[in-house]
Amino acid sequence: PIDLSTQIAGVKLQSYLMNASGPQCTTFDELKRIAHSSSTAIVTKSCTLMPREGNPEPRYQNLPLGAIQSMGLPNLGYQAYLDMVPALKALNKPVVVSIAGFSISDNIEMIIAFQNSAVDLIEVNFSCPNIPGKAQIAYDFEQTDQALAAITALGNKPIGIKLAPYFDMAHFIAVANIIKKYPVKFITCINSIGNTLVIDPYTEQPIIKPKGGFGGLCGDYVKPIGLANVRAFRELLGNDVSIIGVGGIKSGTDAFEYLLAGADAVQIATSLEKEGLGCFARIEHELKAFMATKGYTQLSDAKGKLKPL
Ligand code: DOR
Repeated sequence: PIDLSTQIAGVKLQSYLMNASGPQCTTFDELKRIAHSSSTAIVTKSCTLMPREGNPEPRYQNLPLGAIQSMGLPNLGYQAYLDMVPALKALNKPVVVSIAGFSISDNIEMIIAFQNSAVDLIEVNFSCPNIPGKAQIAYDFEQTDQALAAITALGNKPIGIKLAPYFDMAHFIAVANIIKKYPVKFITCINSIGNTLVIDPYTEQPIIKPKGGFGGLCGDYVKPIGLANVRAFRELLGNDVSIIGVGGIKSGTDAFEYLLAGADAVQIATSLEKEGLGCFARIEHELKAFMATKGYTQLSDAKGKLKPL
């Protein structure tokens, strides 16, 4: 028997795989279906102060190796998720709320509300690439520092941040040094790769409508970037900060690669959108089978143990 139990910021999880904030986690019915799947936690769609319909369609397109999307944070508004917390908790899995304020004061208002709720973890999204005219907080280090100063002192529930992908060693170091200044309990790496462009050569048009076709790249394309971000932050932050890996996990070996890089748990978005809720049980089964071939019985046998070449 393989034990995939783990912890994020001290919150016990029975397994290693959960949904990522994004697909199929906006309404209560969707969140209930996630609870009834093999996802080890219930992660909500990033919420804003007010309800949002999101960007104009088409705003999501599948690609051979993933997807591109510019959803624009369609969500019910934070009050709806706050009201749902008791019913979500009654589904007997840890509840992770994702919040994506448009300003520090938005985030403070929402975090105070969820600090006074029964949620288990608060994931603050610093990396949505899809709001026209709004920069990603995670690429503005001064703003990241100021936001963390404001939001990490609002209560006792663990706060984590959803980071954008970084591509430069100096950026990994700069962000890790900011994180170390504050009681950030977990980080989630990575959000989609923002502002990519897919062109249809036949129609001579982009394939999604918002922002002239610029959108977040997801799926297989982003796995090496996700792995690098998890690995870099694990080396820079040590074991004081829990790390959730996201990006292109669609098989047990993908999940295992994130474990080697140092992930404590992983989240799944594109595979959930493409395959449906069965992805969690399938990938969990594949991961256990792969670990068994190596004689590993628990996550700690391989976590962070990427071998030098
Ligand atoms: O790729 C993303 N799409 N990342 C986010 O943080 C938000 C989402 C959206 O709703 O556009």
